[in-house]
Amino acid sequence: MTAFDAIIPHLKALHVGFMAVWIAGLAALPAMLARHDRAIGQGDFARIRRATHYGYIWFLTPAAVLTVATGTTLIFLRDVFTGWMFVKLVGVAGLVTVHAWVGHTIVAVAETEGRHEPPGPFLPTVILCVLAIAVLTLVLAKPELDELPVPAWLAQPLGRDLPFDVPNP
Ligand code: HEM
Repeated sequence: MTAFDAIIPHLKALHVGFMAVWIAGLAALPAMLARHDRAIGQGDFARIRRATHYGYIWFLTPAAVLTVATGTTLIFLRDVFTGWMFVKLVGVAGLVTVHAWVGHTIVAVAETEGRHEPPGPFLPTVILCVLAIAVLTLVLAKPELDELPVPAWLAQPLGRDLPFDVPNP
């Protein structure tokens, strides 16, 4: 038992809270972006565009950064250098990609008003659900993934020299 163990439940609660804001935002913003319809008036367009922009800057991105920061701290405090955690991180990389796509779409919508095609909310929502369910399943079930079927040459040192000289201090 170390002095840091006492903060783990609090950090985990923060991690899950930030994660909920992040995932909820990633679900909501594509639906709002789909309302950037050519048919709606300038006033409505500006209101929806500003709401998505501020939501992204002030809620989504801070929640994403804080989810990753608290999660990274938890890796070291809980010492979870395990197979399921590394697979979870691949899923998180997918969520970060969806995050970047939402940001890109907000900028594109602002710059091409009147010319753009409003994005459909369906595909990003399906991708988001698949990734979020995969990440949650991994972290809650914590499956034994240490015996991943990788080729033998990837799992052990081969004792070969590097193809270039390494300075020897
Ligand atoms: C870089 C990003 C992330 C890192 C480094 C990370 C890391 C961690 C770590 C180390 C734990 C503690 C695991 C344990 O106590 O056994 C944890 C818990 C958790 N994480 Fe993440 N996480 C990240 C992102 C996410 C995301 C995006 C989600 C959801 C979509 C998520 C959902 C959860 C949940 C629900 C728990 C609580 C699990 C439990 O206590 O049983 N995490 N995370």
